[in-house]
Amino acid sequence: MIPVEEWHLSTRRLGRRVLVYDCVDSTNTRAAALAHDSGNDGLVILADAQTAGRGQHGRSWLCTPGAGALLSVLLFPPPALRRPALLTAWAAVAVCETVRHSTGLEAKIKWPNDVLVHGKKVCGILIEQGRGTVVGIGLNVKQRAAELAAAGLPHAVSLETAARRPLDCQQLARWLIVQLDTDYNRLWRGELLSLEVRWRESLGLLGKRVNAECHDGTYQGRLRELAWEGLVLEQAGGETLHLRPEAVRHLAPA
Ligand code: BTN
Repeated sequence: MIPVEEWHLSTRRLGRRVLVYDCVDSTNTRAAALAHDSGNDGLVILADAQTAGRGQHGRSWLCTPGAGALLSVLLFPPPALRRPALLTAWAAVAVCETVRHSTGLEAKIKWPNDVLVHGKKVCGILIEQGRGTVVGIGLNVKQRAAELAAAGLPHAVSLETAARRPLDCQQLARWLIVQLDTDYNRLWRGELLSLEVRWRESLGLLGKRVNAECHDGTYQGRLRELAWEGLVLEQAGGETLHLRPEAVRHLAPA
């Protein structure tokens, strides 16, 4: 597989090298294959199409060739930034901001790492940690509603459908990489609070009654706090329950 283009963005850590492919098996697989060399820190793999795109829980990620922004970032974060909750929030918040910036639409995070527009999934994120950390992002850009429905994805939407205007996959990918870079630099400087605030806001669940699905059962209560330190649920009877973000598989309005 040979890249058709190579970009060099004027970013700090991510995207100083972007390998652009017509078609790969999976951008995550390609990025992971380069994790033997920490000199590849910040490298981005971008593709027009994937033959074996991967989703969460071992599922496949389907996207018509040319219809999505499909990219993976290879990183070697310092230990303090290797926390799954942090990386997930970082990527999801950057997608939300790219959607807002490019279309003016409000995007919301569905716990832990889906991004929704008008209540439908516009983006999925797959983070894989091995030798390095690979953050894979699949943003639906050009698919028609009928096409997504025919592919068995009635709860998905593309940005073009939501925004009702043509959009450019590569331009969106560029904006997304720049946003990811800006926020990653903030995290490197120890500025975790600004991300926490935007994460909380994009989830939109604070103060609401929620179901928190954990490995040992589902808890219900009013979400009183949502922070890197943990979630606080006020349960019936007034007692509070503290949960680490990593312990919560799904968090949704009750
Ligand atoms: C999900 O299931 O919601 C996560 C989907 C992640 C898909 C993206 S597309 C780019 C990158 N390469 C992959 O093989 N998967 C991710």
